[in-house]
Amino acid sequence: MRIGLLTGGGDAPGLNGIIESCARVLINNGVEVVGIRDGFEGIFENRTINLTLDRIENAHSAAGTILGSSNKSGTAGRESEFREKFAALGLDGLIACGGDGTFSGLYGVCKDINLIGVPKTIDNDLSGTEITFGYDTACASVAESVDALRFTAEAHKRIIVVETMGRTAGWIALGGGVASYADIILVPERPYDKYKLIKFIKDKQAGGRRQLMVVVAEGASAKGGEASVAFKVESAPQSERFGGIAFEMARWIEHETCWDARHVVLGHLQRARHPTTTDRFLTLFMGVEAANMALEKAWGQAVVYRQGRVTRAPLTDLMQPPRLIDPDHRWVQAAQRLGIFI
Ligand code: F6P
Repeated sequence: MRIGLLTGGGDAPGLNGIIESCARVLINNGVEVVGIRDGFEGIFENRTINLTLDRIENAHSAAGTILGSSNKSGTAGRESEFREKFAALGLDGLIACGGDGTFSGLYGVCKDINLIGVPKTIDNDLSGTEITFGYDTACASVAESVDALRFTAEAHKRIIVVETMGRTAGWIALGGGVASYADIILVPERPYDKYKLIKFIKDKQAGGRRQLMVVVAEGASAKGGEASVAFKVESAPQSERFGGIAFEMARWIEHETCWDARHVVLGHLQRARHPTTTDRFLTLFMGVEAANMALEKAWGQAVVYRQGRVTRAPLTDLMQPPRLIDPDHRWVQAAQRLGIFI
């Protein structure tokens, strides 16, 4: 048996864990494992590497992906070329680890190739699974940053606005924000009322607070407003890149309240850390299950996490619209009970 392994879209801590656990099981069962370089680009350009045990052992602890990834090139309009190039690789099946861009890209070809899906994104917004690996590590990065920044904010009597990733879903801001007991958490799913936000800040100011921590998702916006698009990557399936809200918000808050404000954009640091233990467990069990599925030829399915365990689901479950935060989600309610503005 000859199985391809591909990592697509923005990288997420834990990708190397999937590669190591999945490839180890396959190799131990006599399967030849072919790593596709740089996501779909490796298929279009025939760039692969043989994944041998000495290449993959101990890869699990590093961020990034030893295969490379890309969120710039999709398959739209190139489906027949994709089928041809994939056939030329002589693979019995493909294990694709990716996010919404990867799986929407595979939608047009998934009936023609033997495919197994593994959900991945730090944004935690993929449908079909209750959690994606990389998310816990991203939240840890946000929470530790907010906790650290609170000290300098306290020293200088400042508000610090921390911008997190999260395009249309605010999971990272919500998870990282509650984990660090941020004062204000702003997510795209709950557009904020400008008047109420400023009143909340002024009340804190009047109460004698020295510092205030705001966590804002890059895709958040005020009621009636729009998310701040920083630039576009024209060739990407999802071309808009959000950013700039923390800068704008810090200037606006300072203007409205006369409270010294600064902003910090965490950016790709949220994707760049070694995976947390939670993400390592998740990728270990998901990788083993993906390999089991390939050995059983259980094509057209995905490895997902549901009700506390790694299990299987139809691949198409990963191809649905993004999984957004329910505005009354229990984490939102818990934040409100803590007195957090959300
Ligand atoms: O991985 C998803 C994501 O992190 C989004 O939250 C973010 O907007 C985007 O990727 C950034 O992508 P790029 O790698 O193109 O900067």
